[in-house]
Amino acid sequence: MKQPMFSTAIVRRPARSLVRGITTHPELGQPDYELALRQHDAYIGALERCGLAVRVLPELEEFPDSCFVEDVAVCTKSFAMITRPGAASRRNEIAGVRDILAHYYADIVEIQEPGTLEGGDVMMVGDTFYIGLSSRSNPDGVQQFIAALEAHGYTGQGVRMPPTLHLKTGSSYMEDNIMLVDRDFASYPEYASFRRIEVPADETYAANCLRINDYVIVPSGNPRTLAALQAAGLATIEQDMSEFRKIDGGLSCLSLRF
Ligand code: GLY
Repeated sequence: MKQPMFSTAIVRRPARSLVRGITTHPELGQPDYELALRQHDAYIGALERCGLAVRVLPELEEFPDSCFVEDVAVCTKSFAMITRPGAASRRNEIAGVRDILAHYYADIVEIQEPGTLEGGDVMMVGDTFYIGLSSRSNPDGVQQFIAALEAHGYTGQGVRMPPTLHLKTGSSYMEDNIMLVDRDFASYPEYASFRRIEVPADETYAANCLRINDYVIVPSGNPRTLAALQAAGLATIEQDMSEFRKIDGGLSCLSLRF
């Protein structure tokens, strides 16, 4: 068996205020809090099945979107970056994150004002990081992150964005040179060297899948994406994300992995 890429995940329990999370899809309705909790339990189980030790942080009622813990930090192999979320209502979610990351990292840096960066815009491909220049991650924040990457021996590349929330809303690296993309990202020159798997137009939510060690976690209800990943030789785990989808949350958003 290959050396596992990741050993640890950090998640944060959904707060009751989750029902007021930011959304671009109000037509999907408000999340059902109890169901969201059960889906969160199942998500933790999926991470454990992938071989991760999962640290579960308590809910933060004052921050409806705080279960999307991926956005407050980026965890590389050698350092951690505390972000500065671009969504004003999420900016103070970073309080306390340094203390948590200090259990795992000696080297922690922070994005400084006026920069903004959200982890959902950061995609790791080996020692290269692709970073979406989205409405949440501004050029200053992206440049600060690239400078930190370069200081640690990595490279970073800003990626112009279609009207999509985060880079990983529309594209996810599946390892083994496979890039999962929605239609917007399918023709991106930045991804030309990858073997691209394009999700069907009626399964765009599945462009955010999560490769962890020997598995890919796939949002349930996306059978053609699931079949395409399996046909590419990847072992899959399906995860119901219906309640998080209602507030623009994807599989990657719910954890930090390192
Ligand atoms: N609701 C997740 C976000 O907008 O960041």
